[in-house]
Amino acid sequence: MKKHEPKYLKDYRPPAYWIDTIDLQFDLYEKEVIVTSFMKIQRNNEQAGEHTPLVLNCQDADILHVVAGDMVLLPGEYERGEDYFKLNRVPEQFTLEIKNRLTPQNNTSLEGLYKSSGTFCTQCEAEGFRKITCFSDRPDVMSRFSCIITADENKYPVLLSNGNLVKKGKLENNRHYVKWEDPFKKPSYLFALVAGDLVCIKDTFTTCSGREIDLHIYVEAENKDKCGHAMASLKQSMAWDEQRFGREYDLDLYQIVAVNDFNMGAMENKGLNVFNSKYVLARPETATDQDFMNIQGVIGHEYFHNWTGNRVTLQNWFQLSLKEGLTVFRDQEFTADLNSRAVKRISDVKNLRTLQFPEDAGPMSHPVRPESYIEMNNFYTMTVYEKGAEVIRMIHEILGREIFRKGMDLYFHRFDGRAVTTEDFIQTMEDAAGVDLSRFRLWYSQSGTPRVTVRRTYNEKRRQLTIKIAQTTPPDHNQQQKKALHIPIKFGLLDKNGKDITPPEHHLLELKSLEKEWVFDDIPSETVPSLFRGFSAPVIMDTDLTCEELSFLMAHDNDAFNRWDAAQQLYFREIDTLISGLQSHATPTVSSHVINALEKALKDPHMDRALMAKTITLPDENEIGEKYEIIDVDAIHSARQFLRQSIAKELEGLFMEIIDSGSAVDPKDLSHNAMAHRSLVNAALSYVAALESPQSQEIIYQHFISSGNMTREIFSLTLLCDMTSPFTGPALEQFYEKWHTDPLVMDKWFSVQAGATVPGTLDKIKSLCRHPDFTWKNPNRIRSLIGVFGMTNPFVFHQADGAGYQFFADKVIDLDKINPQITARMVSVFNRYKRYDARRRELMKNQLKRIHDVRGLSRDVYEIVSRALG
Ligand code: ARG
Ligand code: ZN
Repeated sequence: MKKHEPKYLKDYRPPAYWIDTIDLQFDLYEKEVIVTSFMKIQRNNEQAGEHTPLVLNCQDADILHVVAGDMVLLPGEYERGEDYFKLNRVPEQFTLEIKNRLTPQNNTSLEGLYKSSGTFCTQCEAEGFRKITCFSDRPDVMSRFSCIITADENKYPVLLSNGNLVKKGKLENNRHYVKWEDPFKKPSYLFALVAGDLVCIKDTFTTCSGREIDLHIYVEAENKDKCGHAMASLKQSMAWDEQRFGREYDLDLYQIVAVNDFNMGAMENKGLNVFNSKYVLARPETATDQDFMNIQGVIGHEYFHNWTGNRVTLQNWFQLSLKEGLTVFRDQEFTADLNSRAVKRISDVKNLRTLQFPEDAGPMSHPVRPESYIEMNNFYTMTVYEKGAEVIRMIHEILGREIFRKGMDLYFHRFDGRAVTTEDFIQTMEDAAGVDLSRFRLWYSQSGTPRVTVRRTYNEKRRQLTIKIAQTTPPDHNQQQKKALHIPIKFGLLDKNGKDITPPEHHLLELKSLEKEWVFDDIPSETVPSLFRGFSAPVIMDTDLTCEELSFLMAHDNDAFNRWDAAQQLYFREIDTLISGLQSHATPTVSSHVINALEKALKDPHMDRALMAKTITLPDENEIGEKYEIIDVDAIHSARQFLRQSIAKELEGLFMEIIDSGSAVDPKDLSHNAMAHRSLVNAALSYVAALESPQSQEIIYQHFISSGNMTREIFSLTLLCDMTSPFTGPALEQFYEKWHTDPLVMDKWFSVQAGATVPGTLDKIKSLCRHPDFTWKNPNRIRSLIGVFGMTNPFVFHQADGAGYQFFADKVIDLDKINPQITARMVSVFNRYKRYDARRRELMKNQLKRIHDVRGLSRDVYEIVSRALG
C-alpha cells in the first residue's frame, strides 16, 4: 500500500519563493503535447534564505529540458521526485525554463490537460496544474500568465486561454498560433486552455460604467441552438452582481466553453469558464425546467466567482469555503431574487438535509474549514459548499442586508488581489458591523449538525408564554466536546386566527449558550410559535408542536418556508407511525388530519402552484431514513408507498383536475407560472401513478406521448419505469429512438431506469452497463446510471442479499483505474454502513474492506474508504 500522507492546516507556511510571471507555450499534436514554461522567480525573504531549495509540484510530466538563468541543467543537476521538482541552490532572483511532454489523449482522470470529444481542455482546480507543468501549485502563489498555443488549424480552429487575445497568425504545416495574456495575477488553479473545433455564440453586455463586454459561448456545432438560456443567464448574472453587490466585470471578454466530459459542474477559470455541457445546453424539448434553473444557477455561480474566488482568492485549500460557501450563498440569492425565493429556499434546505446532514454525521464529517486532507478533491463537499453557504446566510441574518453589504464592500476593498482566509472574512464583517462574532466562528471549526430543542410553557393567568431553547451537538471524531454555537433563530408568533403578533424586538432570537429562555408577556392563549423561519440556521429542530398546530402553521404561517416545513413534519410523523405499525404487523391507516391538511392546501386559491407542488410532495426515502438511528429501508419504502397510495385514493378527484388543467400550459413557455404549473401537474401525476390501476397507467402514458417538452416527458417516463405496466417497455424504446443522438437526454434515459424500484431493477442496471451507449469515460453517464442507483435508490441498493453492494463495489474497483475523483464520490455511499441493521452493516463493511485491499488504489478512494472503516 502506497503511503498517503495527510496535509494539515496547522502546518501552513507562506511560500519560500514567488513566481511573478509565467509564460507558457503549448504545442498541441495528436499523440503528445509539448509544454514550455518560462518563469520569473523571486525568493520570499520573509520565509527563506539562500540555502532554501526551490521545490515545485510536478506530476506525470516528462521533463525534456531545464534552463535556470542562462545555464542548461543536466538531469543530475536538478532533483526529480514522484511529485516534485527541486533545485537545491538558487539565487534570490532568477528565471527558469522547463520543457516537458504530456499525453492528454490518455488522461482519463479529467484533471490537468485532457481531451473531451476531440477538444483539448484543462481542469486545474484543485491541484491539476502540476499535471501540466512544474509549478508552485498552491493558491497563495499568484502570477501573471501568458499563453501561446500552436495547433493544426483544421482540427483546432479555436484556441483559447485566460485574459485577452494579443496575437495570432499562421505557421508552417497548416498550423496556427495564438497568444493570450491575462492582466490579472492569479493562482495556477485558475489557468485554463481550450483547443477544438467549436462554434461561437456571441453577445455583449454593457456594464454599469458603460464598458462593453464581449460574451462568447463555445459549443460543438450541433448544439448551437441550445445556448440561448445560458447566454441570457450570463447577462442576468452580470447585471445582478452590479445591483446587489456593486461588482462590475473586469476584462473585456467573458468566455464559456461547454465540454461533455467534466468531473464537476463547472469551473471559474479567469475569463474562460469551462462547463459541463449539462449546465449550458438547453431547449425545452431536451431540458427540464429544473435543468433550466440549474443552468441559471451554475452560470451565476461561476460568474460570481470572478470577485469571490478570483479577485479575492484563497491562502490555502483549507479555506475553500471562503470562496465556495460565499459564492453558493451569492448564487442562491441570485436565483431567489430572479425567481421564487421560497421555492429556492425549500429545494436548498431539502438538499442540505438529505445530503449534508448525513455527511456531517458520518466518517467524512469535517468542519466547514477542514483541518486536514489527503486528497483535496475529496473536500469539495456538501459541508464546504452548502453548509458553508448557510454560515454566510446566518451572518447575513444577524447583520441584516445593508450592513452585510457594507461588510462585503469592505472585504473587497481590503483584499482585492490577495489570497486570504475565512478568518479575514469574519474579521471584516465584525469591523464593518461593529459586532462580536467570536462565538459565531465556531461554525467554521466545529463539525456536526446541532440539535435544537424548543419547549414551551404558557401561564393562562398571567398570559405569559415562556420558550426555552437548548442546543447540543453530538461528539464526533473531530471534537469530543462540542461548544455552544451562536444560532440565529428567525421567530414569529401567530394568534389563533393566524395573525402575526410577534413583538418587534423579537423577530430574531440569538442563542449563544447551551440553553436560554425567552419570556413573552401579554400573549393570548392558543398562540403558536413559528421558529427558524426561512430555515435561519442549519440545525435539526425538535419542537413540542402538536399535529394540530403543525396543520395550523401549514395553513397560516406568513413564512412560506415554514408553511412547507410544517407539512413535511406532518408527513414525517405520519410515516413514523406507519413504520412502527409495519414493524409490529398492525393494519396500517392514515390519519385524517394529514388528508385534511393536504386537501386544504390543494384547494387554497392563494397558494402559488410551485409551492403547492412542494407542499404536496412527500419526503423521499433517503430524507426519511435520515431521521432514524438505524435505517429500515424496507419499512420506509412500504410506509411511504402506503401513504402515497392512501392520499391518492382519497384525493384522486383533485389530482385529476390538476392534471387536466395542465393541457392549458404552452409546453415551451418558461415563465415562472408555466414552470410552476408543470411542477404541480407532475406532483399530481405521481399520486395518480400510485393508484397502479390500468386507467392510471393509461393516463401517464398519454401524458408521455403528448408531452411536448422534457419536463413532462421525462417525469412521466420516470413514473412508467417505476410501475409494472405494459406501457413501460414501449415508452423506453420510443424515448430511445427519439433521443439516442443527444447525450444529455440519454443520461436521463439511463437515470430513470436506475432509479426504479420495481423487481428486476438490479439486473436491468447490470445489463445497461453493457449497453452500447454506456461508457466509463463520461462522468455524466456514470452518474446517471451507477450514481443514481447507489445514491438515490436506497430500496434496491440495500436489497437484503447484498447483491447491490457487490455490484457497486465491483464497479468502484474498475472505475478507480479510470477516474479516481468520480470513484471517490461514488464509494462514499458506503460511508453510512453503520446506520443499517447488523446484516447489511456486515455486507457493506466487507465490500469496503475488499476495496481497501485493492493494490494501487487511488489516494482519492483510499482516503474515503479508510475513513469509513476507521
Ligand atoms: N470551483 C468549482 C466550482 O465550484 C469547482 C471545481 C472543483 N473541481 C474539482 N475537481 N475539485 O465552481
Ligand atoms: Zn464554486
